[in-house]
Amino acid sequence: MVKAIYPGSFDPLTNGHLDIIKRSIEIFDDFTVSVLNNPSKKNLFTLSERVKMIKNTIKLEGLEDRVNVDSFEGLLVHYASRKAAKVIVRGLRAMTDFEYEFQFALMNKNLDKKLETIFLTTSEPYSFISSSLVVEVYRLGGNVADKVPQPVFECMQKTI
Ligand code: COA
Repeated sequence: MVKAIYPGSFDPLTNGHLDIIKRSIEIFDDFTVSVLNNPSKKNLFTLSERVKMIKNTIKLEGLEDRVNVDSFEGLLVHYASRKAAKVIVRGLRAMTDFEYEFQFALMNKNLDKKLETIFLTTSEPYSFISSSLVVEVYRLGGNVADKVPQPVFECMQKTI
């Protein structure tokens, strides 16, 4: 029984994140997407909006029995330990992600030897997508309807 956590800011969830979620549930027995509540970071969407967008997306995809949606504060390793998770899942888009993710994974390993970080390389169509880029393009009038799940697009239309 391998329990995994997919942590992130998800500000907002993109189709790239959704791709990682769909592929992860084919690998892990118990899978939780967990949104970081970091009051010192200025997010565009509130924590509850970010969680709601993910829940609505998971429901729309018919995955509610296979994906848990949660949020956390503080250190990821402490949260993972509370949840008895063995694996942290992260998506890798390009070499530029690697340095950041590598440092992160090493620090987490240093803090908790039992916790493994597993990287999934992003599927090609999503390699250039990021939350802030999607928001910027939308703000400037570009079409992003094919880059985020429908519940996220609807929330963007209301918020931005
Ligand atoms: N497809 C598309 N976009 C992706 C992606 C994928 N597969 N994977 C990551 N991204 C993008 C996101 O859209 C986001 O874009 P943005 O920078 O334009 O907003 C960016 O990559 C990173 O976002 P995200 O995956 O949400 O991660 P994060 O860097 O915001 O969050 C945490 C990282 C939450 C895992 C980390 O900060 C954490 O664990 N914090 C808790 C405190 C802690 O333990 N700190 C010590 C850690 S060693």
